[in-house]
Amino acid sequence: MASMPATVSLREVGPRDGLQNEQPVPTEAKVALLDALSRTGVRRIEAVSFVHPAAIPQMADADEVWAKATKAEGVRYSALVPNSKGAQRALAAGFKELEVVVSASDTHNQHNVKRSTAESLDDIAELVAAVHEAGATCEVIISTSFGCPYEGDVPTDRVASIVDRVIADGADRVAFGDTTGMATPRRVLDLLDKVRPKHPRKPMLLHFHNTRGTALANILTALQYGISEYDASIGGLGGCPYAPGATGNVATEEVVHMLHDMGIDTGIDLAALLDAARLAQEIVGRELPSGVLKAGPRLPL
Ligand code: COA
Ligand code: ZN
Repeated sequence: MASMPATVSLREVGPRDGLQNEQPVPTEAKVALLDALSRTGVRRIEAVSFVHPAAIPQMADADEVWAKATKAEGVRYSALVPNSKGAQRALAAGFKELEVVVSASDTHNQHNVKRSTAESLDDIAELVAAVHEAGATCEVIISTSFGCPYEGDVPTDRVASIVDRVIADGADRVAFGDTTGMATPRRVLDLLDKVRPKHPRKPMLLHFHNTRGTALANILTALQYGISEYDASIGGLGGCPYAPGATGNVATEEVVHMLHDMGIDTGIDLAALLDAARLAQEIVGRELPSGVLKAGPRLPL
């Protein structure tokens, strides 16, 4: 495992990607979950998103959640935004790290943010400049990078051209979202081979949903490629409340459990993470899919 990174930077996205796909929970519960996560040693947390409240009612109280959350030293908190209006709200709330989302497939982008991919990219060029002007950084998350629920396969050339465009427009980081859990190790390699050699030093992050059980295999594949940044969600929170059996992001504790056994450092305390996972389970009132949460860790804590 010599070629693997010695440390991995995990970003916890349960408070945003997880909770946006659950039935709405009270503001205080969101704050409690954020605070529990801030105590785990995780170094990055995507705390909220600033989207239209009619589109995602679960994030309607983003300002209040963020104002009430305890900001732990050493944790980088970020907010996801869909457009310039969202970026202005995030900056006004005090965020220094933003993620703006665009889908590689037009149909998904239309459903998600009501405009074409090209229109979003034009908005993102202006948005990134405004974010930099305000002294903050901006990552571009490319959703449906491994497949689209409406269009099926998404050509890697299309994703690669979006990468080139947003980097030319000043994106500080690029993330690849497997929005509907269609990625496989083969697709991960095909995409990385296309985008990584051209931008070897640009921070790149992978975001996998475990819908079809391939998330950890995808992460292992990308680790072997040298990628060291991943999103994960506490307990595997998320999925779709209207699709029984659908699962959310890969569970943070499953990723941490695997990485620590491989000698890869995350800075995270697995016992504290399991406390946060139990809290997440209590908050959403259903059993979460994480195997490490159900079975307990194999490793001594
Ligand atoms: N937050 C709050 N309000 C917003 C907003 C934002 N980020 N962006 C636009 N609005 C408001 C505008 O101010 C305008 O308000 P007004 O009618 O009072 O003037 C209204 O919404 C319409 O603006 P418009 O730019 O036409 O937005 P839209 O109706 O086309 O919606 C999005 C576009 C992006 C705001 C909406 O589709 C959205 O929030 N999508 C989020 C999807 C998401 O989070 N998906 C999951 C994460 S990947
Ligand atoms: Zn996601």
